This record gives sequence, C-alpha cells and structure tokens, in this order.
Amino acid sequence: MKLVAVLGSPHPNGPSSTLSKEVIRGAKEAGWDVALYEIESMHVRGCQGCRTCKQKGIDCILPDDLAPYWKDLHTCDALLVSSPNYASMVTGPMITYMNRHYCLLDQNWQPRIKPGIKLIGVFAQGAKDASLYRKNYEWFLHDFENRGMVLQRMFVHTGGGPATEEEVKEAYQAGYTL
Ligand SMILES: Cc1cc2nc3c(=O)[nH]c(=O)nc-3n(C[C@H](O)[C@H](O)[C@H](O)COP(=O)(O)O)c2cc1C
Repeated sequence: MKLVAVLGSPHPNGPSSTLSKEVIRGAKEAGWDVALYEIESMHVRGCQGCRTCKQKGIDCILPDDLAPYWKDLHTCDALLVSSPNYASMVTGPMITYMNRHYCLLDQNWQPRIKPGIKLIGVFAQGAKDASLYRKNYEWFLHDFENRGMVLQRMFVHTGGGPATEEEVKEAYQAGYTL
C-alpha cells in the first residue's frame, strides 16, 4: 500500500507539517510505502490551460517537479494534502498544485484515475474557531473528491501554536489505521 503526502507549509516543524509527519509515521509503521512531496521546496508551475491532457487523455506534461508525482498518484492508495491557512484559504502554491489535477478528468469530465483513493486533509490556522474556514478547506478537498477520492479524515489545528500531544496521537493513529 502506498501513501502520497503533499505538504504545503514553509515551516517543516509547524503544526501542519508535524501532524502530517505523524500520519506518515503511523502509516510507515503499519507497513505503508510513502512518497513525500514538500511543495515549498519544489518548482511547481501553474496549469497552462494547454488542454494537452484533455486531448490526449494523459497526465500533465509540464516538465517541472510534479513530473514524478503523477506516477506515484496513479499507484497510491491514499493521498494526504496539507497546508497552513493563509488569508482564509490554503496557500497559493497549494492551489497551484491543486489546479494541475485538471489532467485527471478526461474529455467527458470523468476521472482518469482509479476510484477510491483515501484522502486526508491536514490544515493549520491561527484562528481558534475550527468551523471558521471549514468550507474553504472543503472547497480545496472537493477537487480531489471530484476525481473519485474518498475523504477519510480532516484535521484542523487551531490557534497557531504547536500541535498538541492529543492531536499528534490522533494523527499517528489515523496513519496507522489508514
Ligand atoms: C501570510 C499569512 C496569512 C495568514 N492568514 C491567516 C488567516 O487568514 N486566518 C488564520 O486563522 N490564520 C492565518 N495565518 C496563520 C497561520 O495559518 C497559522 O500560523 C498556522 O498555524 C501556520 O501553520 P504552519 O506553521 O503549519 O505553516 C496566516 C499566516 C500567514 C503567514
């Protein structure tokens, strides 16, 4: 079984990365292979709207750091996407990354990836009210659900401080029981 994890925070030890890495640690201990992508250290271009993917029924052809990702995605069983909240939403680079999944819908707007990939969202925000931006996180995750992925779990860390011991435990458990 394979987990693909895409982390969007520039803080490797911030709460969104910490919780994501706990999910990964749990999954690894349960025997999963993990492919890790850290968007902030990658060169990821925006979708060019060239429609080559639609016309040919293929993955995105842009030759940037997402190139190896598509193969991992087609062979994975779970996808973790993670981001801090910047200006009420996931970060710009994570939206850029999400836009590139245009290639996973064919000419008839049907998913061209195996159905049922488990989806986990991990978000962190300064605001204490966990429900404040829920719709925005759901909007982001919906793009993946729209390609046949199934939301398994969404973590929203609030308050801006470090992840709590309880959150860390829950994240590990979520990975272990994926
Ligand atoms: C540019 C910027 C914009 C932010 N905008 C918001 C916001 O609109 N709402 C909010 O609750 N927190 C906001 N925050 C706070 C972060 O979401 C918060 O510090 C989060 O815990 C960072 O997570 P990370 O360390 O895992 O990246 C913002 C932080 C930055 C740097």
